[in-house]
Amino acid sequence: MLRTVVLVSGGGTNLQALIDALAEGKIRNAGIVKVISSKPGVKALERAEKAGIPGAVVAKKDYDGTEAFNRALIESIDLAEPDLIVLAGFLVVLPEELVKKYENRIINIHPSLIPSFCGVGYYGLKVHEEALKRGVKITGATVHFVDEGCDSGPIILQKAVEVKKGDSPEVLQRRVMEEAEWQILPEAVDLIAAGRVRVSNGKAEVTEIL
Ligand code: GRF
Repeated sequence: MLRTVVLVSGGGTNLQALIDALAEGKIRNAGIVKVISSKPGVKALERAEKAGIPGAVVAKKDYDGTEAFNRALIESIDLAEPDLIVLAGFLVVLPEELVKKYENRIINIHPSLIPSFCGVGYYGLKVHEEALKRGVKITGATVHFVDEGCDSGPIILQKAVEVKKGDSPEVLQRRVMEEAEWQILPEAVDLIAAGRVRVSNGKAEVTEIL
């Protein structure tokens, strides 16, 4: 079983998509062993509790500086002995040490088709605001491995979503979640659990089932 730790900061709809996909057998050979939130009292923690998954809070405000916070975060993750770490709306830049330690074992869901609308400052509604400002007709979501950069790691899966006339950032955000994020994040975990995702020369490849 692929021991998976999910890191969250808010609503946790992507976490829910993982929980549901596991229950429905759409993700095989994996389990969520811990959910860690960077904020207390968020809906994502409620979702974890309801699903019987141990939750933890590692919040910056509880620590004396970034170094101490980073240490606590790494410790909390290490304790769960994960094979895979999923960033599902985690609004904290990961310590470099963590990224190095879990190379090609951390994935992130980003609500655009990378390399569009990504990088520093592109999170939450901002991504969709910028897509609408630019007038793109297609946007989408990307699941990628996390490297030392921001949204720059090997791309595992992407799914396109149509931008419709009159879309507000909120409406577009919801469509991207429903039609792309909640599908490709569970799919990526299932593929990784099946050992079907390989990284070479900085690119991720999904291998066929023999
Ligand atoms: C999602 O749009 C995800 O792509 C982004 O943050 C949002 C998290 O939403 N990284 P939720 O907490 O999973 O509902």
